[in-house]
Amino acid sequence: MVSMARRLLRTKPADEIVAEGGHGEGGELRRTMTMWQLTLFSVGATLGTGIFVILGQAVPKAGPAVVISFVLAAVTALFSALSYAELAGTIPVSGSSYSYAYATMGELVAWVCGWCLMLEYAVSVAAVAVGWGEYLNRFLSDLAGTRLPDAITHSPGDQGGVLNLTAILIVLLATWLLLRGASESATANAFFVLIKIAVLAFFCVVAFSAFNTGDLTPFAPLGVAGVTAAASQVFFSYIGFDAASTAGEEARDPRRDLPRAIILSLVIVTTVYVAVALSAVGAMHWRLFDPNSTEASLALVADRATGATWPGIIISFGAVVAIASVVLTVLYGQTRILFAMSRDGLIPKVFQRVDPRRQVPIANTLIVALFVSVLAGFVPLGQLAEATSIGTLFAFAIVNAGVLVLRRTRPELPRSFRTPFFPVTPILGVIFCFVVMAGLAPVTWLAFAAWMAVGLLAYLLYGYRHSRLNRSVR
Ligand code: ALA
Repeated sequence: MVSMARRLLRTKPADEIVAEGGHGEGGELRRTMTMWQLTLFSVGATLGTGIFVILGQAVPKAGPAVVISFVLAAVTALFSALSYAELAGTIPVSGSSYSYAYATMGELVAWVCGWCLMLEYAVSVAAVAVGWGEYLNRFLSDLAGTRLPDAITHSPGDQGGVLNLTAILIVLLATWLLLRGASESATANAFFVLIKIAVLAFFCVVAFSAFNTGDLTPFAPLGVAGVTAAASQVFFSYIGFDAASTAGEEARDPRRDLPRAIILSLVIVTTVYVAVALSAVGAMHWRLFDPNSTEASLALVADRATGATWPGIIISFGAVVAIASVVLTVLYGQTRILFAMSRDGLIPKVFQRVDPRRQVPIANTLIVALFVSVLAGFVPLGQLAEATSIGTLFAFAIVNAGVLVLRRTRPELPRSFRTPFFPVTPILGVIFCFVVMAGLAPVTWLAFAAWMAVGLLAYLLYGYRHSRLNRSVR
């Protein structure tokens, strides 16, 4: 008789996880994604509302030094990105941090991690989809002076909403692409990402043309405290660099390409963010940014810089495309994490069924799409950003800890990438995650506790009993 504690702490050997890679029930996933597609997948999931909206809200906290806040947040993200890169190169499967936790800290932590990832992926994608309708409306009103009715662009109970059809529409469009295949989705995503980067580059050109160095002094009017507070806020804009790690079983050469894609995406995103932030505070005095605005503040900066309205229209279009690609990539990530959890028996088998012809987990994708559509269509989710950040940070902390554990327990495993300055970087990674988490509101912590309680109950009622490791008692 194995004690409950031993069952909760049992790990799944990394080699076994890797050996199962690609196999689902009924068929296999197809290895088609190149290094660039993986990189753009992570960029697609990362570049979104953070830069279009949250930059504007963070400027009043830090002044022009918001540029430093972006760098600080990037350094925080970098520690976790290095850990992701090491584990993704060692255990290149689709379950991302869930699978890494299973190999290092045992089933219960893996489950907790998988449950956190549902906040980072499914719940956040619903919130992002809700926001998409607002951007679409802004774009339509800037372009043609017309808007879609509130009844179909807001959730019930929110500003006259009846059913948020625009949110459902973007989820369905993304689902349609995902059902066509991972490679097709990656190609569409690459196209979206190039558009959003082009739009942000356009913004930089416009803003730099109105650059006034006088606006940069004093550089940090609110001191170090302001800079760090803004850094916590803009950390949200870096979430998503880990998305490539959910594509481990569809990558052509995952050991080589996943670590590269994760690090490269962070480098690309940081470069874009710093350039956009610098040009924005150089083109418009920091006091003119409104901390409560949910508008795409970049559009306002561009309009003021040129004295015309057309640059703002281009920026609004960029936001619509940017958020569409976040929905596509994050939805994809959620389906693949559930795929891995299902293969381990922790959730029902239907999630690991792969259509042999299309080599896509069709039922899984449809269930996730239905869940996200209902959530996005009916529930006002505007304030959800913080709740998703806390789950993400918790998963990041687990990944950093996972690197420490796996180096000790399985030093001989082949690692295509090794975190530099070990063990300092993963330890700093854990500390930074908890520091940013500590800065989040008490109500966010309460919501997180409630979410975790539901997750643990679900585990005890289902996963604990159906785990595949029950068959081979360890
Ligand atoms: N990083 C993503 C965004 O900024 C979550 O929208």
